[in-house]
Amino acid sequence: QAGTDYEAESGTVSQGAVESNHAGHSGTGFVNFQAVTGAYVEFTVDSAQAAASKLDFRYANGTTAGRPLDITVNGASVADDLAFPGTGAWTTWKAVSVSAALKAGTNKVRATTAAGDGPNLDKLTVTANGPADTEKP
Ligand code: GCU
Repeated sequence: QAGTDYEAESGTVSQGAVESNHAGHSGTGFVNFQAVTGAYVEFTVDSAQAAASKLDFRYANGTTAGRPLDITVNGASVADDLAFPGTGAWTTWKAVSVSAALKAGTNKVRATTAAGDGPNLDKLTVTANGPADTEKP
């Protein structure tokens, strides 16, 4: 099953700016976080069913230092200090993946800077892997 894309520039942005000055992003741009801990992008993700899902965060980090993000779903931690290592250039975009259980209906997926600055965040792709364990017979 193909994933569904959620552009960062369409999310709710706190302490970040939508920019488009580095080629290769999808949509109309990406989010450049301010260099603070606690800046975030929140994506509103609709899931047809309660399902274990793969969350792919597409990003660029033109530095050689990691820019970790904390990932939460509906306010609950999914990954602390998820690593977003350097990609070699601000125009080189890669993806970091994490698994999460989504509920049926609206989910809030938030990516928050954990160590003072974040990568440039392009989009979230959500791919349902199947029913969550709690929903299995
Ligand atoms: C550069 C780059 C930005 C990036 C920033 C950073 O200024 O052009 O896109 O966000 O570095 O280090 O975060």
